[in-house]
Amino acid sequence: MESLNFLTPELAQQAADTLGTPVYIYSRDTIEQRCQEVLNFPNAYGFNARYALKANPHLAVLKLIDRMGLHFDASSEFEAMRCLHAGIPAEKIQLTGQQFPRKHLKEIIDAGVLFNACSLRQLDEFGQAYPGANVSFRINPGTGSGSNRKTNVGGPSASFGIWHDQADQVAEIAAKHNLNITRIHSHIGSGSDPEVWKAVAEMTLAQADKFPAVHTVNLGGGFKVARMSSEKSTDLQEVGEFVKQVFVAHAAKTGNEYKLEIEPGTYLSANCGSLLCDVDDITNTGDDGYTFLKLNTGMDTITRPALYASEHPIVILNDNTETTNYVVCGHCCESGDMFTVDENDNLTTRELNTANIGDLVVIEGAGAYCASMSLKNYNSFPTTPQLLLDSGEFKVIQQPQALKDMLAVEIIPELS
Ligand code: LLP
Repeated sequence: MESLNFLTPELAQQAADTLGTPVYIYSRDTIEQRCQEVLNFPNAYGFNARYALKANPHLAVLKLIDRMGLHFDASSEFEAMRCLHAGIPAEKIQLTGQQFPRKHLKEIIDAGVLFNACSLRQLDEFGQAYPGANVSFRINPGTGSGSNRKTNVGGPSASFGIWHDQADQVAEIAAKHNLNITRIHSHIGSGSDPEVWKAVAEMTLAQADKFPAVHTVNLGGGFKVARMSSEKSTDLQEVGEFVKQVFVAHAAKTGNEYKLEIEPGTYLSANCGSLLCDVDDITNTGDDGYTFLKLNTGMDTITRPALYASEHPIVILNDNTETTNYVVCGHCCESGDMFTVDENDNLTTRELNTANIGDLVVIEGAGAYCASMSLKNYNSFPTTPQLLLDSGEFKVIQQPQALKDMLAVEIIPELS
């Protein structure tokens, strides 16, 4: 059975009394602790940590992380604009995007946002717009690792970054536009095998040596985080010590002392957030079937189980000492809206406290890629509001979405 992270049954009740359910709750203390752990990453020649804000881009979260001294990695020009809107200085923001920032290019680059080219074409287009500029590029080191196929972003089947043997073409484009390659970047996936991550550090350093102006090597994020008690988190100190030695050995061989950057998303935010909801219904499919626990939330709010067959801890808040094996499902009209699936995406059951309709339920590990990656407004369910738990007090950081706001952007045209 799983347990609560930072909530208590009393705090959960208080949160439900504040905004009702479902509601996301983030813990300021946990966010700050996680930032500190990341800032303590071992390094040889200087270090910088970026928060990959795609994991949780709420302005309040960005503000807290900024105050802890981290920098940011944006995955689109809109995320970069979001950082600027939160008051984050442009020079602390890097843009690493699949899509070239054509809408706000001038706004963000003129302000000082760092550009990380993710393809030869992006590098060329950036060079045309900003000849003579400093720039970074993302390599695909030729191998990747993620907790599943959909979170692996390296190797021949991944479209992310510039293939590792195309350094000559990078140099050609850079020369054509007088660009200065000062930084190099790799990110191989989420929930990566620490051994693969370490191996990629060496490959990325070898690429960096090809560009004399490179001073910083960014090795991306992807550190595993245990959401379920059966999972194991990456030990940042252990991986960091290893990588530090790799940087030292590399410098001894080549004379190149690179500054290290990492950019975790999950590690910083996953266990800083919980989703509080309640039991809406309990049904079954007979003696040989299943007992279904239906929640008043679902894949519109937490998409990870449907997308990746990811498991999140589920804690029923009652004092029942009896347990039941439930299939836990969401409120969307989709048979795939299930919280209890195994790694092969097959339906499975979870042993939980025997529940009553109306019991509060906490879904843990909901701070990363949950609110940010939700299927907003599917079945016209409103976006889930958000609270920040700060010194024992709940602060509303996102209001419930009113139906009128959901409908405000839709227009019924004149119909003949
Ligand atoms: N840097 C880059 C360039 C990235 O694309 C990502 C994640 C990160 C850093 C942060 O990776 P993390 O430390 O969070 O693993 N939605 C997924 C995983 C895919 C994330 C894509 N990029 C999830 O729910 O686990």
